[in-house]
Amino acid sequence: MAELQLDMSAERYRSLGLKENPFPYAPIPMESPSIFCNQKEAMDSIGEMLSGSLRTGKSSHLILLGGYGNGKTHALRRIKGQLRCEPARQKNPRVLSTYASQPGHAFLEMYRELMYDISHQELRRLAEAYLGSFTLRTRPRSIASAARRWERIRDGASLLADVLPKAIQQLNNEVRFMDFTRAIVNLAIEEHSATAWEWLSGEGADQVRRRELGLGSNLNPITSIKALLAMKTFSRLVGFRSLVLLIDEFEMIAGLHQSAKQQMLNNFRHLIDMSPIGLNVVFACTPEAWQSFLAEYHAFSERINREVQLRPLDIEHTRELIHAYLTAACDSRRGGLGPFDSQALQRIFELSMGNVRRVLLICNRLVEIAASKGARTIDQSIVNQLIPDQDWDQTSV
Ligand SMILES: Nc1ncnc2c1ncn2[C@@H]1O[C@H](COP(=O)(O)OP(=O)(O)O)[C@@H](O)[C@H]1O
Ligand SMILES: [Mg+2]
Repeated sequence: MAELQLDMSAERYRSLGLKENPFPYAPIPMESPSIFCNQKEAMDSIGEMLSGSLRTGKSSHLILLGGYGNGKTHALRRIKGQLRCEPARQKNPRVLSTYASQPGHAFLEMYRELMYDISHQELRRLAEAYLGSFTLRTRPRSIASAARRWERIRDGASLLADVLPKAIQQLNNEVRFMDFTRAIVNLAIEEHSATAWEWLSGEGADQVRRRELGLGSNLNPITSIKALLAMKTFSRLVGFRSLVLLIDEFEMIAGLHQSAKQQMLNNFRHLIDMSPIGLNVVFACTPEAWQSFLAEYHAFSERINREVQLRPLDIEHTRELIHAYLTAACDSRRGGLGPFDSQALQRIFELSMGNVRRVLLICNRLVEIAASKGARTIDQSIVNQLIPDQDWDQTSV
Protein backbone atom coordinates (compact mmCIF):
# COMPACT_ATOMS: atom_id res chain seq x y z
CA MET A 1 0.00 0.00 0.00
CA ALA A 2 1.34 3.48 -0.77
CA GLU A 3 2.54 5.40 2.27
CA LEU A 4 2.75 9.12 2.69
CA GLN A 5 6.46 10.05 2.88
CA LEU A 6 7.53 13.30 4.53
CA ASP A 7 11.15 14.33 4.11
CA MET A 8 12.19 17.23 6.31
CA SER A 9 15.93 16.88 6.09
CA ALA A 10 17.98 19.69 4.62
CA GLU A 11 20.45 17.05 3.36
CA ARG A 12 18.33 16.79 0.27
CA TYR A 13 19.68 20.09 -1.13
CA ARG A 14 23.29 19.67 -0.05
CA SER A 15 24.60 18.42 -3.40
CA LEU A 16 23.30 21.68 -4.91
CA GLY A 17 25.14 23.73 -2.28
CA LEU A 18 21.81 24.87 -0.78
CA LYS A 19 20.28 24.51 2.67
CA GLU A 20 16.70 24.67 1.42
CA ASN A 21 14.70 25.43 -1.67
CA PRO A 22 15.13 29.23 -1.96
CA PHE A 23 12.11 29.67 -4.24
CA PRO A 24 8.52 29.80 -3.03
CA TYR A 25 6.29 26.73 -3.55
CA ALA A 26 3.31 29.02 -4.00
CA PRO A 27 4.52 32.35 -5.35
CA ILE A 28 2.49 34.71 -3.20
CA PRO A 29 4.12 37.91 -1.88
CA MET A 30 5.07 38.09 1.79
CA GLU A 31 3.30 40.58 4.05
CA SER A 32 6.34 42.84 3.86
CA PRO A 33 8.66 41.53 1.11
CA SER A 34 12.38 41.74 1.82
CA ILE A 35 13.52 40.78 -1.69
CA PHE A 36 12.69 43.43 -4.22
CA CYS A 37 14.31 43.20 -7.64
CA ASN A 38 14.27 45.66 -10.51
CA GLN A 39 11.08 47.71 -10.91
CA LYS A 40 13.19 50.79 -10.32
CA GLU A 41 11.15 52.88 -12.72
CA ALA A 42 7.93 52.01 -10.90
CA MET A 43 9.38 52.77 -7.48
CA ASP A 44 10.89 56.05 -8.72
CA SER A 45 7.52 57.21 -10.06
CA ILE A 46 5.73 56.32 -6.87
CA GLY A 47 8.46 58.03 -4.84
CA GLU A 48 8.15 61.18 -6.97
CA MET A 49 4.40 61.25 -6.60
CA LEU A 50 4.51 60.89 -2.83
CA SER A 51 7.32 63.43 -2.47
CA GLY A 52 5.35 65.97 -4.52
CA SER A 53 2.31 65.48 -2.31
CA LEU A 54 4.36 65.69 0.88
CA ARG A 55 5.98 68.93 -0.27
CA THR A 56 2.80 70.64 -1.41
CA GLY A 57 0.12 68.77 0.51
CA LYS A 58 -1.77 68.34 -2.78
CA SER A 59 -3.37 65.00 -3.57
CA SER A 60 -2.26 62.87 -6.48
CA HIS A 61 -3.04 59.37 -7.68
CA LEU A 62 -1.34 56.67 -9.65
CA ILE A 63 -2.19 53.49 -11.50
CA LEU A 64 0.27 50.60 -11.43
CA LEU A 65 -0.28 48.37 -14.45
CA GLY A 66 0.98 44.85 -15.00
CA GLY A 67 -0.17 41.44 -16.19
CA TYR A 68 -0.79 38.63 -13.68
CA GLY A 69 2.40 37.58 -11.95
CA ASN A 70 4.44 40.65 -12.89
CA GLY A 71 4.65 41.83 -9.29
CA LYS A 72 1.83 44.31 -8.55
CA THR A 73 0.90 42.91 -5.15
CA HIS A 74 4.57 42.52 -4.29
CA ALA A 75 5.22 46.17 -5.17
CA LEU A 76 2.23 47.48 -3.16
CA ARG A 77 3.25 45.47 -0.09
CA ARG A 78 6.81 46.62 -0.46
CA ILE A 79 5.66 50.26 -0.56
CA LYS A 80 3.53 49.74 2.51
CA GLY A 81 6.39 48.05 4.35
CA GLN A 82 8.76 50.88 3.50
CA LEU A 83 6.34 53.63 4.44
CA ARG A 84 5.74 51.96 7.80
CA CYS A 85 9.30 50.99 8.68
CA GLU A 86 11.47 53.79 7.38
CA PRO A 87 13.55 54.66 10.46
CA ALA A 88 13.27 58.41 9.96
CA ARG A 89 9.51 58.00 9.80
CA GLN A 90 9.20 56.25 13.09
CA LYS A 91 10.10 59.41 14.94
CA ASN A 92 8.07 61.75 12.86
CA PRO A 93 5.75 59.85 10.54
CA ARG A 94 4.58 61.73 7.47
CA VAL A 95 2.09 59.42 5.89
CA LEU A 96 -0.48 56.95 7.11
CA SER A 97 -0.59 54.07 4.65
CA THR A 98 -3.10 51.27 4.34
CA TYR A 99 -3.64 48.37 1.93
CA ALA A 100 -6.75 46.61 0.57
CA SER A 101 -6.25 43.33 -1.31
CA GLN A 102 -9.19 44.18 -3.59
CA PRO A 103 -11.85 46.85 -3.97
CA GLY A 104 -14.63 44.33 -3.13
CA HIS A 105 -18.21 44.44 -4.36
CA ALA A 106 -19.20 47.60 -2.55
CA PHE A 107 -17.30 50.49 -1.03
CA LEU A 108 -18.03 49.34 2.53
CA GLU A 109 -16.13 46.07 1.92
CA MET A 110 -13.01 47.92 0.86
CA TYR A 111 -13.41 50.44 3.67
CA ARG A 112 -13.37 47.54 6.16
CA GLU A 113 -10.16 46.12 4.73
CA LEU A 114 -8.47 49.51 4.85
CA MET A 115 -9.48 50.06 8.45
CA TYR A 116 -8.41 46.57 9.56
CA ASP A 117 -5.07 47.16 7.90
CA ILE A 118 -4.57 50.32 9.97
CA SER A 119 -5.72 48.21 12.97
CA HIS A 120 -7.59 48.96 16.17
CA GLN A 121 -4.37 49.31 18.13
CA GLU A 122 -2.79 51.89 15.80
CA LEU A 123 -5.97 53.94 15.42
CA ARG A 124 -6.42 53.91 19.19
CA ARG A 125 -2.88 55.21 19.57
CA LEU A 126 -3.73 58.03 17.14
CA ALA A 127 -6.96 58.82 18.99
CA GLU A 128 -4.99 59.02 22.24
CA ALA A 129 -2.43 61.31 20.60
CA TYR A 130 -5.26 63.50 19.29
CA LEU A 131 -6.79 63.88 22.77
CA GLY A 132 -3.30 64.26 24.29
CA SER A 133 -2.63 67.25 22.02
CA PHE A 134 -5.31 69.24 23.91
CA THR A 135 -3.70 68.86 27.34
CA LEU A 136 -1.22 71.76 27.14
CA ARG A 137 -1.42 75.17 25.54
CA THR A 138 1.40 74.60 23.06
CA ARG A 139 0.97 72.29 20.08
CA PRO A 140 2.86 69.01 20.30
CA ARG A 141 5.82 68.78 17.90
CA SER A 142 5.11 65.26 16.74
CA ILE A 143 2.61 62.43 17.04
CA ALA A 144 4.95 60.75 19.51
CA SER A 145 4.99 63.81 21.77
CA ALA A 146 1.19 64.09 21.52
CA ALA A 147 0.95 60.41 22.49
CA ARG A 148 3.13 61.11 25.55
CA ARG A 149 0.74 63.87 26.58
CA TRP A 150 -2.06 61.32 26.68
CA GLU A 151 -0.16 59.85 29.63
CA ARG A 152 -0.93 63.07 31.50
CA ILE A 153 -4.62 62.19 31.24
CA ARG A 154 -3.98 58.59 32.22
CA ASP A 155 -1.93 59.70 35.22
CA GLY A 156 -4.48 62.29 36.31
CA ALA A 157 -2.34 65.39 35.57
CA SER A 158 -4.96 66.55 33.04
CA LEU A 159 -8.68 65.91 33.17
CA LEU A 160 -10.39 64.04 30.35
CA ALA A 161 -13.53 66.09 31.06
CA ASP A 162 -11.60 69.29 30.21
CA VAL A 163 -10.14 67.91 27.02
CA LEU A 164 -13.14 66.11 25.49
CA PRO A 165 -15.36 69.11 24.58
CA LYS A 166 -12.50 70.89 22.78
CA ALA A 167 -11.39 67.72 21.00
CA ILE A 168 -14.92 66.88 19.87
CA GLN A 169 -15.61 70.40 18.70
CA GLN A 170 -12.44 70.71 16.65
CA LEU A 171 -12.74 67.30 15.01
CA ASN A 172 -16.39 67.72 14.17
CA ASN A 173 -15.82 71.20 12.75
CA GLU A 174 -13.45 69.58 10.29
CA VAL A 175 -15.14 66.28 9.46
CA ARG A 176 -18.78 67.29 9.97
CA PHE A 177 -19.72 63.76 10.88
CA MET A 178 -20.70 63.53 14.55
CA ASP A 179 -20.84 59.73 14.73
CA PHE A 180 -17.31 59.50 13.38
CA THR A 181 -16.12 62.15 15.85
CA ARG A 182 -17.67 60.34 18.80
CA ALA A 183 -16.28 57.01 17.68
CA ILE A 184 -12.74 58.40 17.39
CA VAL A 185 -12.67 60.00 20.83
CA ASN A 186 -14.28 56.95 22.44
CA LEU A 187 -11.60 54.76 20.88
CA ALA A 188 -9.16 56.21 23.43
CA ILE A 189 -11.43 55.44 26.38
CA GLU A 190 -10.84 51.93 27.71
CA GLU A 191 -14.44 50.91 28.41
CA HIS A 192 -15.73 52.24 25.08
CA SER A 193 -12.86 51.36 22.79
CA ALA A 194 -14.18 47.98 21.58
CA THR A 195 -17.58 49.40 20.57
CA ALA A 196 -16.00 52.46 18.95
CA TRP A 197 -13.78 50.15 16.90
CA GLU A 198 -16.75 48.00 15.83
CA TRP A 199 -18.37 51.11 14.46
CA LEU A 200 -15.22 52.60 12.90
CA SER A 201 -14.11 49.34 11.28
CA GLY A 202 -17.44 49.14 9.46
CA GLU A 203 -18.43 45.86 11.15
CA GLY A 204 -21.17 47.61 13.08
CA ALA A 205 -22.20 47.48 16.74
CA ASP A 206 -25.69 46.64 18.04
CA GLN A 207 -28.04 49.43 18.96
CA VAL A 208 -27.70 49.14 22.73
CA ARG A 209 -23.92 49.43 22.58
CA ARG A 210 -24.10 52.26 20.06
CA ARG A 211 -26.45 54.19 22.30
CA GLU A 212 -23.92 54.10 25.15
CA LEU A 213 -21.55 56.08 22.95
CA GLY A 214 -24.21 58.28 21.37
CA LEU A 215 -23.66 56.72 17.94
CA GLY A 216 -26.52 56.77 15.40
CA SER A 217 -26.65 54.18 12.65
CA ASN A 218 -23.88 51.83 11.57
CA LEU A 219 -21.87 52.59 8.45
CA ASN A 220 -23.41 51.60 5.11
CA PRO A 221 -22.05 51.69 1.53
CA ILE A 222 -22.78 55.41 1.28
CA THR A 223 -21.65 56.63 4.68
CA SER A 224 -18.46 54.55 4.44
CA ILE A 225 -17.15 57.01 1.81
CA LYS A 226 -17.89 59.83 4.20
CA ALA A 227 -16.09 57.92 6.97
CA LEU A 228 -13.01 57.39 4.79
CA LEU A 229 -12.94 61.12 3.98
CA ALA A 230 -13.27 61.84 7.69
CA MET A 231 -10.42 59.42 8.35
CA LYS A 232 -8.26 61.40 5.93
CA THR A 233 -9.11 64.65 7.69
CA PHE A 234 -8.47 63.10 11.10
CA SER A 235 -5.08 61.79 9.99
CA ARG A 236 -4.09 65.34 9.04
CA LEU A 237 -5.31 66.77 12.32
CA VAL A 238 -3.20 64.29 14.19
CA GLY A 239 -0.10 65.26 12.19
CA PHE A 240 0.16 63.15 9.00
CA ARG A 241 0.69 64.90 5.68
CA SER A 242 -1.12 62.29 3.66
CA LEU A 243 -3.32 59.22 3.81
CA VAL A 244 -1.97 56.70 1.30
CA LEU A 245 -4.44 54.07 0.06
CA LEU A 246 -2.95 51.08 -1.73
CA ILE A 247 -5.75 49.31 -3.64
CA ASP A 248 -4.86 45.96 -5.17
CA GLU A 249 -6.69 43.97 -7.89
CA PHE A 250 -8.62 46.95 -9.15
CA GLU A 251 -9.44 44.88 -12.26
CA MET A 252 -12.01 43.09 -10.12
CA ILE A 253 -14.34 46.06 -10.71
CA ALA A 254 -14.40 45.27 -14.43
CA GLY A 255 -16.12 41.96 -13.60
CA LEU A 256 -18.96 43.55 -11.59
CA HIS A 257 -22.44 44.09 -13.00
CA GLN A 258 -22.74 47.28 -14.98
CA SER A 259 -24.55 49.20 -12.24
CA ALA A 260 -22.22 47.99 -9.46
CA LYS A 261 -19.21 48.84 -11.62
CA GLN A 262 -20.50 52.33 -12.32
CA GLN A 263 -21.29 52.78 -8.65
CA MET A 264 -17.81 51.77 -7.51
CA LEU A 265 -16.03 53.99 -10.03
CA ASN A 266 -18.30 56.89 -9.09
CA ASN A 267 -17.48 56.33 -5.43
CA PHE A 268 -13.76 56.50 -6.16
CA ARG A 269 -14.27 59.60 -8.26
CA HIS A 270 -16.21 61.20 -5.42
CA LEU A 271 -13.47 60.28 -2.92
CA ILE A 272 -10.86 61.88 -5.17
CA ASP A 273 -12.95 64.98 -5.92
CA MET A 274 -13.62 65.59 -2.25
CA SER A 275 -9.90 65.35 -1.42
CA PRO A 276 -7.85 68.06 -3.11
CA ILE A 277 -5.33 67.74 -0.30
CA GLY A 278 -3.86 64.97 1.79
CA LEU A 279 -4.77 61.87 -0.22
CA ASN A 280 -2.67 59.54 -2.38
CA VAL A 281 -4.27 56.50 -3.97
CA VAL A 282 -2.18 53.87 -5.73
CA PHE A 283 -4.34 51.43 -7.71
CA ALA A 284 -2.90 48.17 -9.08
CA CYS A 285 -4.69 46.86 -12.15
CA THR A 286 -4.23 44.66 -15.23
CA PRO A 287 -3.70 46.63 -18.46
CA GLU A 288 -6.78 45.09 -20.14
CA ALA A 289 -9.15 46.17 -17.39
CA TRP A 290 -7.57 49.63 -17.30
CA GLN A 291 -8.12 49.97 -21.06
CA SER A 292 -11.80 49.25 -20.56
CA PHE A 293 -12.06 51.90 -17.81
CA LEU A 294 -10.27 54.37 -20.06
CA ALA A 295 -12.70 53.70 -22.87
CA GLU A 296 -15.90 53.74 -20.83
CA TYR A 297 -15.36 55.82 -17.73
CA HIS A 298 -13.31 58.92 -18.50
CA ALA A 299 -14.72 60.69 -15.49
CA PHE A 300 -12.81 58.30 -13.30
CA SER A 301 -9.69 57.63 -15.37
CA GLU A 302 -9.04 61.34 -16.01
CA ARG A 303 -8.48 61.84 -12.33
CA ILE A 304 -5.50 59.50 -12.21
CA ASN A 305 -2.50 61.59 -13.15
CA ARG A 306 0.24 58.98 -13.43
CA GLU A 307 0.52 55.60 -15.02
CA VAL A 308 3.35 53.15 -14.34
CA GLN A 309 3.94 49.82 -16.06
CA LEU A 310 5.46 46.75 -14.42
CA ARG A 311 7.03 45.08 -17.43
CA PRO A 312 8.12 41.45 -17.77
CA LEU A 313 11.77 40.86 -16.92
CA ASP A 314 14.54 40.73 -19.53
CA ILE A 315 17.20 38.05 -19.20
CA GLU A 316 19.50 40.21 -17.06
CA HIS A 317 16.68 40.96 -14.66
CA THR A 318 15.78 37.28 -14.59
CA ARG A 319 19.35 36.54 -13.55
CA GLU A 320 19.19 39.21 -10.82
CA LEU A 321 15.88 37.83 -9.53
CA ILE A 322 17.20 34.26 -9.27
CA HIS A 323 20.39 35.53 -7.67
CA ALA A 324 18.47 37.54 -5.10
CA TYR A 325 16.38 34.54 -4.01
CA LEU A 326 19.49 32.33 -3.84
CA THR A 327 21.33 34.94 -1.77
CA ALA A 328 18.45 35.47 0.65
CA ALA A 329 18.26 31.75 1.42
CA CYS A 330 21.99 31.15 1.99
CA ASP A 331 24.35 32.82 4.45
CA SER A 332 27.39 33.11 2.22
CA ARG A 333 27.26 33.12 -1.54
CA ARG A 334 29.56 34.24 -4.25
CA GLY A 335 28.46 36.33 -7.20
CA GLY A 336 27.55 33.41 -9.50
CA LEU A 337 24.18 31.88 -10.22
CA GLY A 338 25.16 28.38 -9.01
CA PRO A 339 23.68 25.78 -8.99
CA PHE A 340 22.00 27.13 -12.17
CA ASP A 341 24.16 27.21 -15.29
CA SER A 342 23.82 29.76 -18.07
CA GLN A 343 21.90 27.46 -20.42
CA ALA A 344 19.37 26.75 -17.67
CA LEU A 345 18.99 30.50 -17.14
CA GLN A 346 18.32 30.98 -20.84
CA ARG A 347 15.65 28.24 -20.83
CA ILE A 348 14.00 29.59 -17.66
CA PHE A 349 13.81 32.98 -19.28
CA GLU A 350 12.24 31.55 -22.45
CA LEU A 351 9.74 29.35 -20.62
CA SER A 352 8.66 32.10 -18.25
CA MET A 353 8.67 34.89 -20.82
CA GLY A 354 10.03 37.11 -18.07
CA ASN A 355 6.96 36.72 -15.87
CA VAL A 356 8.17 36.93 -12.24
CA ARG A 357 5.73 34.38 -10.81
CA ARG A 358 6.57 31.87 -13.56
CA VAL A 359 10.32 32.32 -13.06
CA LEU A 360 9.90 31.55 -9.36
CA LEU A 361 7.61 28.56 -9.98
CA ILE A 362 9.97 27.06 -12.55
CA CYS A 363 13.03 27.60 -10.34
CA ASN A 364 11.25 25.96 -7.40
CA ARG A 365 10.44 22.89 -9.51
CA LEU A 366 13.96 22.71 -10.93
CA VAL A 367 15.54 22.73 -7.47
CA GLU A 368 13.21 19.91 -6.38
CA ILE A 369 13.92 17.82 -9.48
CA ALA A 370 17.69 18.35 -9.17
CA ALA A 371 17.62 17.53 -5.44
CA SER A 372 15.67 14.32 -6.00
CA LYS A 373 18.29 13.21 -8.55
CA GLY A 374 21.22 14.20 -6.33
CA ALA A 375 22.45 16.51 -9.13
CA ARG A 376 25.18 19.08 -8.43
CA THR A 377 24.11 21.61 -11.05
CA ILE A 378 20.88 22.63 -12.67
CA ASP A 379 21.53 22.47 -16.38
CA GLN A 380 19.70 21.88 -19.62
CA SER A 381 19.12 18.20 -18.79
CA ILE A 382 17.29 19.09 -15.55
CA VAL A 383 15.19 21.69 -17.35
CA ASN A 384 14.21 19.01 -19.86
CA GLN A 385 12.71 17.01 -17.01
CA LEU A 386 10.17 19.66 -16.15
CA ILE A 387 6.75 18.22 -16.92
CA PRO A 388 7.14 17.64 -20.66
CA ASP A 389 5.33 20.18 -22.76
CA GLN A 390 3.84 21.89 -19.74
CA ASP A 391 2.66 25.17 -21.02
CA TRP A 392 4.10 27.54 -18.40
CA ASP A 393 2.63 30.38 -20.29
CA GLN A 394 -0.95 29.26 -19.73
CA THR A 395 -1.21 26.90 -16.80
CA SER A 396 1.02 28.17 -14.07
CA VAL A 397 0.01 31.72 -13.51
N1 LIG B 1 10.26 42.73 -7.72
C1 LIG B 1 10.17 41.49 -7.20
N2 LIG B 1 11.21 40.95 -6.53
C2 LIG B 1 11.11 39.72 -6.01
N3 LIG B 1 10.02 38.95 -6.09
C3 LIG B 1 8.93 39.44 -6.74
C4 LIG B 1 8.98 40.74 -7.33
N4 LIG B 1 7.79 40.96 -7.93
C5 LIG B 1 7.04 39.86 -7.70
N5 LIG B 1 7.71 38.95 -6.99
C6 LIG B 1 7.19 37.63 -6.59
O1 LIG B 1 6.54 37.06 -7.73
C7 LIG B 1 5.32 36.44 -7.39
C8 LIG B 1 4.17 37.08 -8.17
O2 LIG B 1 4.05 38.45 -7.82
P1 LIG B 1 2.65 39.18 -7.47
O3 LIG B 1 2.97 40.47 -6.82
O4 LIG B 1 1.74 38.25 -6.76
O5 LIG B 1 2.10 39.46 -8.95
P2 LIG B 1 0.71 40.14 -9.38
O6 LIG B 1 0.12 40.77 -8.18
O7 LIG B 1 1.09 41.15 -10.44
O8 LIG B 1 -0.14 39.03 -9.96
C9 LIG B 1 5.20 36.56 -5.88
O9 LIG B 1 5.72 35.39 -5.27
C10 LIG B 1 6.08 37.75 -5.55
O10 LIG B 1 6.58 37.66 -4.22
MG1 LIG C 1 -1.69 40.47 -7.20
